[in-house]
Amino acid sequence: MLLLPLLACTGPDAEDPIVYAFPEGFRWGAASAAHQIEGGNTNNNWYQFETLPAFAGLTASPSGEAVQGYARYEDDADLLVELGADVYRLSIEWSRVEPSRGTWDEAEWAHYRAVLEALRARGIEPMVTLHHFTEPIWVQDLADLECAGGPTDANLCGWTNPDVPAEFAEFSAEAALRFGDLVDEWTTFNEPGGYLLSGYLGGIFPPGEFNLSGADIQANVIPVAVGLADGHAAAYAAVKAADLVDADGDGVVARVGFTNSIQWITPVDPDSAEDVAAAARLQSLYGFIFPDAVVLGLLDRDLDGVPEEVHPEWANTTDLLGYQYYFRLFVKAADGFPPLDAIPCDPAVLTIIGMDLESVGCPEPHPDDVTDMSNENYSPGLGLLAPVLAARYPGVPLRVTEAGIATDNGRRRAESIVRELMGLHTAIGEGAPVDGYIHWSLTDNFEWAHGFAPRFGLYSVDFATYDRAPNEGADVFAQVIADNGIRQSVLDAYGKGEHLSAEE
Ligand code: BGC
Repeated sequence: MLLLPLLACTGPDAEDPIVYAFPEGFRWGAASAAHQIEGGNTNNNWYQFETLPAFAGLTASPSGEAVQGYARYEDDADLLVELGADVYRLSIEWSRVEPSRGTWDEAEWAHYRAVLEALRARGIEPMVTLHHFTEPIWVQDLADLECAGGPTDANLCGWTNPDVPAEFAEFSAEAALRFGDLVDEWTTFNEPGGYLLSGYLGGIFPPGEFNLSGADIQANVIPVAVGLADGHAAAYAAVKAADLVDADGDGVVARVGFTNSIQWITPVDPDSAEDVAAAARLQSLYGFIFPDAVVLGLLDRDLDGVPEEVHPEWANTTDLLGYQYYFRLFVKAADGFPPLDAIPCDPAVLTIIGMDLESVGCPEPHPDDVTDMSNENYSPGLGLLAPVLAARYPGVPLRVTEAGIATDNGRRRAESIVRELMGLHTAIGEGAPVDGYIHWSLTDNFEWAHGFAPRFGLYSVDFATYDRAPNEGADVFAQVIADNGIRQSVLDAYGKGEHLSAEE
């Protein structure tokens, strides 16, 4: 990878100008999550999901050592410096710092202080997530899911118990109190909508529940959504009260928000009113359920695509709305197809129900745009979503807190980054208030139910040695960061072409 570092030395000039310049002060970074990188997280619900016989077959492999990120945090902080990033999105593993209810583990708190200090010492601002898909076993013990004896301190039985949002707020307050001098940007939940639907509707995340009928969703999914929104609102207030220090003197004391999973969900036939309505219902459930709740204070309890239940206690508890984008999803109307009378053109979902894209009448993506997680990398989606979110949540600042591609081919990663940023640049130019772009992920890591096969890292990990090495994605991203934009030569090399390069 010699080309780009050489370019970095030369700087832009008349022959190689910056053709997509981002606003001054635009934030650039990379992201990770504790359970996906640290290794040795044996005290949370994901570890149970990976290892308990009751869930056998639902995960490709246990997280094990992950990528040894717990021990290698100094090295990983150095990688961020190498990239030129100014923000790192990371999470604190709740099950480490509060291994049993009401007990703080001082050594673990000290570890996270060291991690945050290592970042600050290198001029990198930490953006801290308090819940990235994992929670301590005592919040919900997967070995006792029935919870027949009722909640105990060892098993609070999950988010429908009102003690759980309160416990989450207590943990969040403690983190804010301890780390307010190092952290100014807090995220309560990572992708609560994705977490809810994967865990309680589609069964691919803990606690592995399938609830596909409307009645089952009312009974078993919506109450969890309410618990998560309660947890967010309580944690928002708790962090604001506990973090009173402006860590870096830039005028921001504590910006608190959450990160939202949203894809480019679009009708198979844009001229069919039914398909258009089906796509809107799916987006309402997937991409809007949480921002509607904690920005607008609304819940679409009956899943008709129109949020009508009013929750003033949740409203306006988002100072910064992170959005996370990965793929385009076509949707077809289908009467009686649970739960929304809509079929998502997702090969994984279709396989489960014995169908495929062709039999349903879904478009086939171009093979070069299909990622290692079988979804379609669609670069315009990132930019197209920004005005949609800006219009629905006026006045709320936005940041791309994840975008990435499952591939072990650095060139494809670089193309995906450059092309997504081109669309984002247009959206910002047209007024979307997006203040930064954080790539998923800094390094390869544990990809939840898929195990270690999908690679998302700017830095590829050698799983024999755990050494990290930059791939072409890192080289190109570093160039973009150095330029605060896309220069002509990068555009020519990575930004053109109708499809991504073929996976080799
Ligand atoms: C999650 C990450 C995950 C990534 C890629 C996001 O939904 O926040 O934890 O690794 O997508 O699948």
